[in-house]
Amino acid sequence: MSGTTASEAPAAPPAGTLFVDEATGVDAAGVDATSQATPFKTAAFALYSGGEAASIFVKKDEGYEAISASALKKAKKGAEGIAKKIKTAEEQRVKKEKEEASKLEEAKKIQIVEDAALPAAKKIKIRDAAATRGTRVRLSGWVHRLRTQKGLAFLVLRDGTGYLQCVLAGDLANAYSTVSLTLESTVTVSGVVSALPEGKSAPGNHELAVDYYEVVGLAPGGDEAVSNKVQEGADPNLLLDMRHLVLRGETMSNIFKVRAALLRAFRKTYAELGLLEVTPPCMVQTQVEGGSTLFSLKYYGEDAFLTQSSQLYLETVLPSLGDVFCVQESFRAEKSHTRRHLSEYTHVEAELAFLTFEDLLTHIETLFVRTVEHTLADPEIAAIVEQLHPGFVAPKLPFRRMAYVDALDWLNAHGIPNEEGEPFKFGDDIAEAAERKMTDTINEPILLNRFPLEIKSFYMKRCADDPRVTESVDLLIPNVGEICGGSMRIYDLDELLAGYKREGIDPAPYYWFTDQRRYGTCPHGGYGLGTERILAWLCDRFTVRDCSLYPRFTGRCKP
Ligand code: 4AD
Repeated sequence: MSGTTASEAPAAPPAGTLFVDEATGVDAAGVDATSQATPFKTAAFALYSGGEAASIFVKKDEGYEAISASALKKAKKGAEGIAKKIKTAEEQRVKKEKEEASKLEEAKKIQIVEDAALPAAKKIKIRDAAATRGTRVRLSGWVHRLRTQKGLAFLVLRDGTGYLQCVLAGDLANAYSTVSLTLESTVTVSGVVSALPEGKSAPGNHELAVDYYEVVGLAPGGDEAVSNKVQEGADPNLLLDMRHLVLRGETMSNIFKVRAALLRAFRKTYAELGLLEVTPPCMVQTQVEGGSTLFSLKYYGEDAFLTQSSQLYLETVLPSLGDVFCVQESFRAEKSHTRRHLSEYTHVEAELAFLTFEDLLTHIETLFVRTVEHTLADPEIAAIVEQLHPGFVAPKLPFRRMAYVDALDWLNAHGIPNEEGEPFKFGDDIAEAAERKMTDTINEPILLNRFPLEIKSFYMKRCADDPRVTESVDLLIPNVGEICGGSMRIYDLDELLAGYKREGIDPAPYYWFTDQRRYGTCPHGGYGLGTERILAWLCDRFTVRDCSLYPRFTGRCKP
């Protein structure tokens, strides 16, 4: 190898030459520096990789040139340094491996035995930890967090009722089962809970000093570890495939605690308002909200559907049970991928007899405000809502009422166009985007009412003072839009038959619904609320998908 002089023509690189470019090269094992396109960064690394006999060409202004003698000398020193460094690192790695292996061998010798002299442990759930401080307790849960430090192991356990820090010391911390413990493993621990000293923090401001524990189920580590299966910021579709594990996260658990509290609160409000709970069927042979969103199925050879709404069935029990409600799944084959549509959602529906449209509007706003109040009356839930939705303010009565025609004026005055990009005119549907803009701008709940007959369902009653519109209402909430849809129902037989005709519905399968207008009809009305939409609002989630345990939407029916 030699450098070129001014009088010689530059030597062509022989086969196998390693190229070096200090500006763009990369020093790493696996780089193929025999190509000018992927050079090494330093001649020292090239020499270390290729050995003393390697031919090295270095990038200069004019192109690649054979390395100069002085640069080669310098590179040799550098290569020796690299070899030394790599040797030391390898020695350290082997040493560490040996240490860990011997630590594991030592750990295997440790037997965890329960001290028979200790008082019997009382079985508790984590929520009872504060009340049982100072006494010996036993509890089981999942390893939510895991940390070892100076001969101590800190486990934060989760059992659905709370989180508890458990501390293992001495043999318990050094035992094989502890050093090989993984996140999401299940354990049963015994010990005494006591308050944390000043300046330390853990859930509940206390921790359990473990005196004995057993592993119930060891979760996988390595590639299969839960932290590799579920990673924050991963593709939403992958996270949905792993929904069963994602649900174990704190945010998800919190949303579903709020969900349980919300449903509890609905039932409490309904009890206060005197409505009785019923459970209508999910498999039906009638539509409620238009044929385009029906899921059909074969039912012992007959055509049937998954219910879109339990409304028609609720209407049938008014004569026997009076005002009723249900909490039932509804199914909609929604083709659109929006942040507020699911194919299956939990529908809270109610039906009330002998009331006016005005009574219905008052009932809806009262139900909603009281239910939110009851939900937040639980301090644990209020704290979760504040965490998920900082600064959340519960709505107050009465809600703003706005007629459809006035909404059109509002939208036109604010330059918000209809779906064709034109000013709104009577009969236009107010689509999701426009509805959201209006609701978010007004920034308070709106009872939007009196929609045109043509854009509403066959069963809705016309307004006495304007037959073009119906006694119908949508409750709109900022950030989500429509969370409730309701109406007064046609209770005159002929009017209902005309409604079927107008919508091209065969009345035959509806004989039982029609009969309500024959066997003692009455003015009545009701509504349906979307649980996941209310939750998205309460918990400040971008999409209703976060508020359903296993969300179903176009293309997603698993796990
Ligand atoms: O406005 P909708 O379609 O009304 C009915 O089904 C009536 N039959 C209810 C009744 O009067 N008993 O639906 C009512 C509510 C909507 O306001 C919305 O909150 C929710 O149900 N909803 C959906 N939620 C999630 N995904 C979907 N695909 C939804 N479709 C409606």
